[in-house]
Amino acid sequence: MFTYEQAAEKLNRYGQGHVLKYYDGLSAEEKQALLSQIEATDFSMLHYAKERGNLGRRGVITPLGAMEVPEIEAHREEFEKAGLEEIRKGRVGAVLLAGGMGTRLGSDDPKCMYDIGITKHVYIMQRLIENLQEVVKKAGVSIPLFIMTSDKNDAKTRQFMKDMNCFGYDPSMITYFIQDMAPASDYEGRVYMESRGRIATSPNGNGGWFVSMAKTGVLKKVQEMGIEWLDAFAVDNVLQRICDPCFIGATITRNCACGAMVVRKAAPDEKVGAMCLEDGKPSIVEYYDMTPELMEARNEKGDPAYNFGVIMNYLFREKDLERIMNEQLPLHVVEKKIAHIDENGELIKPEAPNGCKYEQLVLDMIHELDSCLPYEVVREHAFAPIKNKTGIDSVESARELCRQNGIEL
Ligand code: UTP
Repeated sequence: MFTYEQAAEKLNRYGQGHVLKYYDGLSAEEKQALLSQIEATDFSMLHYAKERGNLGRRGVITPLGAMEVPEIEAHREEFEKAGLEEIRKGRVGAVLLAGGMGTRLGSDDPKCMYDIGITKHVYIMQRLIENLQEVVKKAGVSIPLFIMTSDKNDAKTRQFMKDMNCFGYDPSMITYFIQDMAPASDYEGRVYMESRGRIATSPNGNGGWFVSMAKTGVLKKVQEMGIEWLDAFAVDNVLQRICDPCFIGATITRNCACGAMVVRKAAPDEKVGAMCLEDGKPSIVEYYDMTPELMEARNEKGDPAYNFGVIMNYLFREKDLERIMNEQLPLHVVEKKIAHIDENGELIKPEAPNGCKYEQLVLDMIHELDSCLPYEVVREHAFAPIKNKTGIDSVESARELCRQNGIEL
């Protein structure tokens, strides 16, 4: 058991002494909970708050050609056959990354519970399950679905799935696991308190999903089931193609360690990460790292050389993830709205970003692997992300895309 003295010593080492400010006024139970939280929390990343923006690792960026739609169409039969075979042998699992807080959308419920319906209920989760069901139907076998949640949304997510009868998905094929948390701080790297007895924390990014799978024992299950490929995808794309047999077949046939679904960028400066090679290994160049030279660069066909943006749908070979699991992924310091108590102990829910969260990102896993197939999907049919209520990547834009795809809302 961590003592008060040990906690104070640890906090002082990281310049976080204020965490114990309200300690004396806490109940015995709250005191114990706070000491345990201090013991479990890694404060070592907080000093990066002041250096945010300068953390980027950037090697030499060169183009990585995508498999474009005409090539996919020319081989569709062969790829689909190979993909379906893997699915039928039980070698493919789906991993829904749903641990995020969805602060931009601004709902108190987990993002998967958001209802985009107009004349009837159509929940984000429902859209995902419906898309996965299409593949299940085609393959004639159920696909294991792993859902990553966080401490903040786990209970609600599970309850929602129960209430909705998993939208018709076989519950025995669904496994939940919880991701790790990281402290959240102000711009000086001082952790915020979400109450007098609790440090503000937030999920540590989507990049820790495989490590969390291992920590929670779920990886063992994956291995025992003989799953060789894991399709990890974001919760917020309501047109997401999940475990798409053609995508799986293409990645396997091209002998790649992973595949990344990509869309043709709408404009050279569009705010999506573009697939590239970095020091000869697959990588993603973030939109804010796109220099004018990179934006103007052309490939041998005369097309923009960094023209394909990732949409957070990646197919990973499980064995390769085991191999890279102990590699330290880069840390991203992200400015976000962080609810916290003020000097008087009153809860503040900020309207604008007020501090930093510390995240590892799934896209950085790609750079640890030897090869990646960027696989083009048609944006209008496969990419309708919901980040905001209105405007770009919003409930509104996603509704319109659903409408165009004949999905009744
Ligand atoms: P976003 O980058 O959109 O983050 O996540 P977010 O937390 O959901 O939303 P904002 O930025 O606060 O508005 C992209 C995907 O990664 C998942 C999200 O659930 C979403 O599917 N994610 C994000 C996690 O699983 N864990 C995290 O810690 C962060």
